[in-house]
Amino acid sequence: MKFGYFDDKALEYVITTPRTPLPWINYLGCNDFFSIVSNTCGGYSFYKDAKMLRITRYRYNSMPLDSNGKYYYIQDGDVTWNPGWQPTQTPLDFYECRHGIGYSRFTAKKNGLKADLLNFVPLHDTCELNRLTLTNESEAPKSFKVFSYVEFCLWNALDDMTNFQRNLSTGEVEIDGATIYHKTEYRERRNHYAFFSVNAKPDGFDTSRDAFIGTYSPASDPDAIRNGGCTGSVASGWYPVAAHELHVILTPGESKTFLFVLGYAENPKDRKWEAPNVINKAPARRLLAKYQTTEGADAAFAELKAYWENLLEGYHVESRDEKVNRMVNIWNQYQCMVTFNMSRSASYYESGIGRGMGFRDSCQDLFGFVHLIPEKARQRIIDIASTQFEDGSAYHQYQPLTRRGNADIGSGFNDDPLWLIAGTAAYIRETGDFSILDESVPFDNDEATCVPLFEHLTRSFEYTVTHKGPHGLPQIGRADWNDCLNLNCFSDTPGESFQTTGPSEGPIAESVFIGGMFVRYGKDYAKLCAHRGLLDKAKAAMTEVQKMEQTVLNAGWDGEWFLRAYDANGQKVGSHECEEGKIFIEPQGFCVLAGIGVKEGKAEKALSSVEKHLDTKYGIRILAPSYSHYYLNLGEISSYPPGYKENGGIFCHNNPWVSIAETVLGHGTRAFDIYKKTCPAYIEDISEIHCTEPYVYSQMVAGSDAKYFGQGKNSWLTGTAAWTFVNISQHILGICPDYDGLRIDPCVPKDFGSYTVSRRFRGAMYRIHISNPDHVEKGIRKLTVNGKEVSGNLIPITEGVTKYEVDAVM
Ligand code: BGC
Ligand code: NOJ
Repeated sequence: MKFGYFDDKALEYVITTPRTPLPWINYLGCNDFFSIVSNTCGGYSFYKDAKMLRITRYRYNSMPLDSNGKYYYIQDGDVTWNPGWQPTQTPLDFYECRHGIGYSRFTAKKNGLKADLLNFVPLHDTCELNRLTLTNESEAPKSFKVFSYVEFCLWNALDDMTNFQRNLSTGEVEIDGATIYHKTEYRERRNHYAFFSVNAKPDGFDTSRDAFIGTYSPASDPDAIRNGGCTGSVASGWYPVAAHELHVILTPGESKTFLFVLGYAENPKDRKWEAPNVINKAPARRLLAKYQTTEGADAAFAELKAYWENLLEGYHVESRDEKVNRMVNIWNQYQCMVTFNMSRSASYYESGIGRGMGFRDSCQDLFGFVHLIPEKARQRIIDIASTQFEDGSAYHQYQPLTRRGNADIGSGFNDDPLWLIAGTAAYIRETGDFSILDESVPFDNDEATCVPLFEHLTRSFEYTVTHKGPHGLPQIGRADWNDCLNLNCFSDTPGESFQTTGPSEGPIAESVFIGGMFVRYGKDYAKLCAHRGLLDKAKAAMTEVQKMEQTVLNAGWDGEWFLRAYDANGQKVGSHECEEGKIFIEPQGFCVLAGIGVKEGKAEKALSSVEKHLDTKYGIRILAPSYSHYYLNLGEISSYPPGYKENGGIFCHNNPWVSIAETVLGHGTRAFDIYKKTCPAYIEDISEIHCTEPYVYSQMVAGSDAKYFGQGKNSWLTGTAAWTFVNISQHILGICPDYDGLRIDPCVPKDFGSYTVSRRFRGAMYRIHISNPDHVEKGIRKLTVNGKEVSGNLIPITEGVTKYEVDAVM
């Protein structure tokens, strides 16, 4: 069953009922100001950091679900309704929510009145704009009231939901015409404020939640609206909100547009703390001046659309498969931008408080983002590397606002260092900008320790070399990519498996997966050494890589597939000898995509084992059989009921690893089949089972051992976005950025047909036509570039040429 449809022309997903199985959200903002908006107008806003600078309040775990947001109430006669249906839930005569690229648009009708609400964050301003147009579609004049409503968060979202003894006495606002300023904590610790304004003279306002909604009233039935209008309350402590009241009269056919702006402003850096507690309104007024007229708002919207159209032109495919086109050209790239911006911080499943930027997460997010805005990727790499320690290990997470490592979580995830090589290599392949390796970057943000970025990569590489276990495989530390595989965990206190370093840390358990990573990214490291003329270093690195390859092939091989790990007692994990958890997906995918076991036939075997033991109709499970009970020696992985999350769920993130591995072996049909199973556009028809948004990937789909087999969880913020984009764009469609140019190496089903990819690369546009007259699955036999045949599959870069017409025959 579907709850909407794709409108590819408009680059939108159109939701046709507010009663989606879960809230279906969108993200507004691409720079510093961000909002989450659901299909019923739920959500919240923040500036740069969802924990430290939360602007509006949201209640996770709310009842009804998703019941706080930016709301417009329309009181028309005795009926009060909202264009996004919540919170009144008044049945609408028409409802539609169009989630677009950086904006959401709601259209609703009730009793002859139409509301069209467009929400977006302008590219260059720290605000969200809500353009509300009301049209009288009835035959008679209409006189009605509009109320706006936002609830402020007292900045630090964690403090806001815990420290009531203080916070309920700190709230302060200022009212200046149509603008309501939220200035809590401005008098002492803060150098910023928020504001909510409308471009009309309001007929009333409220700034106290108790006055507007009412102490014991639900948001669906605010006191002020029920009792005849706003009360002019000025919040002092308690719960500051901003609500406007506007009286509107429309003749038949007439429309009126209001522009609401929720903004954030900062004072000049040199503000004196002892200065009186009066807001410097100049920055807010400057911003608001632009949005007093619909022309101002429309121009900002047009600019946003043009910005995205230009970005998406960087990779565009035209194939016979409409779903591939839709995902590649629109939604997959869009999700890559969102994961780049948010890492794993703020979604409807990440509270914006718990996790900031992940070291491994953000490194991987770069893979799907770097072609969009390489300059931002460059800065991100430097920020991430600045949280590395001198020994090559790294803070697992850092806070976006301060860019400081998160000491509560600490380090000890032994895959982290290698992802830095991976992210940097992806950046250099895309841009050819080797100069990034010379950037001076500190360890743990201590400026006294700056070294060239290249040295950071060396420490990453050496970290694995110097942290091996008894079999010569990399030590896993607290965990590797699989956060829940805690093999050095001896704590018998429930819930302690994913704790900070300490007694649970041990040096012995080993990871075959990190072995695969080391082989894959160690080769990149060696190439970077060679490029810097460090030939001995490059050679030594390759010797290490080959040694690891042999170790994985021997100590890491179980007979039919790759082992997952050795636990701290030297017991195998992910072996046919185990009672449960006999086979894991990660080493099969990663070792094969790293090229391990290809010539020995082990790669073929491993992938057949995946198909045989792990595949399901909704994707490949992370392991099988799922653990039926908790295992002290395995940790959090066995804390989940069978079929969920890391215990046998379909982790969408590592499905593309297997798909890429299949392309390494030339299996185009199978690679594409894997791609399709978790691809949102392909499973749109089962939205009632999948539940999460049909336009983006979720982290996990419940596996076949779970009660809700096929149900998606944790949509939006997942490395799946980047990895599926890499898979489809580079390995299946086969347009792969390499150090010396674009490599054309498709691997598709025999009947995929010809297709054309437009690709921006290093300042030039490539138009690449790929045909497959012989119906093969892999590789090209003829390559013509600007009319000249070239040998091999690499398009050489010619200085000064900005347009490449490429013809490739498979
Ligand atoms: C989840 C993992 C996640 C980890 C770190 C665990 O509870 O299962 O998917 O990576 O938490 O936050
Ligand atoms: C989600 C985390 O964000 C990611 O870092 C991790 O690799 C996966 N879960 C698997 O545990």
